[in-house]
Amino acid sequence: METITACMQNDHVDIDRIAERAAAAATAGDRVGLEREGTLFLQRLERHIEVEENLLFPAFEERTGMTAAGPSVQMREEHVEMQEPLRRMREAVAANDAAGWQRASKALFEMLVPHNQKEEQMMYPMLDDAMGADAAALLAEVRVAVA
Ligand SMILES: [Fe+2]
Ligand SMILES: [Fe+2]
Repeated sequence: METITACMQNDHVDIDRIAERAAAAATAGDRVGLEREGTLFLQRLERHIEVEENLLFPAFEERTGMTAAGPSVQMREEHVEMQEPLRRMREAVAANDAAGWQRASKALFEMLVPHNQKEEQMMYPMLDDAMGADAAALLAEVRVAVA
């Protein structure tokens, strides 16, 4: 059986690959490519964050009882911090500003890389453990939501 950890880790990898394609388009001066890949990147990351905040973190909090100072609180705070570079990336796509995209993307990934590592190494495995036999049902919901 696939785990929540594996499913969400795959989504991180997919999203990273889209970011690489957007960066390549920005470097090459490919305006159509930057618009396409940049828009896709923003959609996919926003959906990923929604799945975490609406499905995974509530399940984590309910099952572990870790709320006030737990890892889900820190992850939510980091999602909030990401909103500023994400806003700049959205503006860069709208303006087709390749240099602006690269700057904002660099700022985002300085946060996103360690954030994803914490989720993959700590939070998702704790959630898989805490869900036990109910992990499959939650995973089915996650799959529909990230698809
Ligand atoms: Fe996250
Ligand atoms: Fe994540």
